[in-house]
Amino acid sequence: METALHIAKDADELAADGAEYFLRSAKESVRTRNRFTAAISGGSSPRGMHRLLAREPFLSEMPWSQTHLFWVDERLLPYDHPESNFGTAREDFLSRIPIPEANLSPMPVDLGPADGAGAYRRRLADFFGPLSLPKFDLIVLGLGPDGHTASLFPGSSPGSSGEAPWVIAVHGGNPNVARLTLNYNVLNSARNVGVLVSGSGKADMVRRIYTREPPMLPAHYVEPTSGSLTWLLDRAAASLLPERGGHDNG
Ligand code: 6PG
Repeated sequence: METALHIAKDADELAADGAEYFLRSAKESVRTRNRFTAAISGGSSPRGMHRLLAREPFLSEMPWSQTHLFWVDERLLPYDHPESNFGTAREDFLSRIPIPEANLSPMPVDLGPADGAGAYRRRLADFFGPLSLPKFDLIVLGLGPDGHTASLFPGSSPGSSGEAPWVIAVHGGNPNVARLTLNYNVLNSARNVGVLVSGSGKADMVRRIYTREPPMLPAHYVEPTSGSLTWLLDRAAASLLPERGGHDNG
């Protein structure tokens, strides 16, 4: 696994650097495979980056018609609920970009947990092919203060990789509601995984995950099998990392 660390000055610079990273990944994917497939997260961390994607220069430079967006996780709440990841993304950028509706694959929220997970698995199988794990060009994750990522909470751990279900239903988080989430095997099949974290409240957890300090928490298991892992942090989130010399881009 190739790992990179990028440290921005503050949350605003992190949003801009995140949008650059997203654009670079999109251009590279379109150049080599003629399409860009990405799965995006909810939570507060990616919102600045999402908003910038709907503004210049990203608005014009992004290959929107070749971009296919999926979701890392979703709360089983209506899309117009303030905690809906799809609804929030729609408000932050989807409603202002020229992406074809058919290129958006939100997680279903009205089928119940088990059927919803099955339906999203079928959506992934239809799009990527049913035989091997979906290989996203980019998955953008956040990190919870308890070490969760996506909606994979402490207590969960990877099943036997390829055979584990691609999408699972869980209960937890804040608000504590039923959720759907991509499983570890799908996260780890991606070509690129970016973990975007901001703020001093996450600094200790960033340090624990980055330095692989036990006990094992969900984010420890994010190790792309043949892809790259990029940490996108602001200085506050990176402040407890042991060796920062030469890495600080902010
Ligand atoms: C979600 C997420 C979740 C999130 C972390 C960090 O929908 O909430 O996908 O995994 O990335 O909880 O959340 P913040 O960015 O709000 O700190």
